Amino acid sequence: MRKVRTAILISGRGSNMMALVDAARAAGYPAEIVCVLSNRADAKGLEFAATNGISTKVIDHKAYATREACDAAIDVYMRSMMVEVIALAGFMRVLSADFIAGWDGRILNIHPSLLPAYKGLHTHERALADGAKVAGCSVHLVTPELDGGPVLLQAEVPVLPHDTPAMLAARVLAEEHRIYPQALAWLANRIIEDRE
Ligand code: GRF
Repeated sequence: MRKVRTAILISGRGSNMMALVDAARAAGYPAEIVCVLSNRADAKGLEFAATNGISTKVIDHKAYATREACDAAIDVYMRSMMVEVIALAGFMRVLSADFIAGWDGRILNIHPSLLPAYKGLHTHERALADGAKVAGCSVHLVTPELDGGPVLLQAEVPVLPHDTPAMLAARVLAEEHRIYPQALAWLANRIIEDRE
């Protein structure tokens, strides 16, 4: 079985990236992490990737006149690495419709809410302000609608009395680290089946 070549795109800490890298170390895991790309040179997660022998690349969006030009550079790098799946993991950039069309059904994202609730930023603050009793995270396929693509997997956590956004975020993050590797494995297995 040839593993599915996967890129991870980050902008910061990269804890979900680490969870995917750890999961992909298992012999039977259907995806391999071939590169980690960041739009920020100071993204903490890049160090972990490099230390773990994974190719890293910085494509700084500020160096490009337009979103499309930046995304075209990302696309060229992905193709040069023979990437088959792109996993967004705290990548704080909206990808252009053209880029997404070129990777139809091959881009995953992890989002810290039970989609379709709380698309966008500050999910935990908004859930607490609403008095929500449950929160959670979702892995979904990326489409041009922000946080709007088909959901593959979700996990719920309770919202506890006296939760702060940071406390809730930590509880949700533990579930993110659990379900993202499962969702990537599911997509990779489907791609492997399609090859046969
Ligand atoms: C996570 O909460 C993820 O759901 C959101 O951005 C955060 C990234 O955290 N998209 P990390 O960089 O993976 O630690």
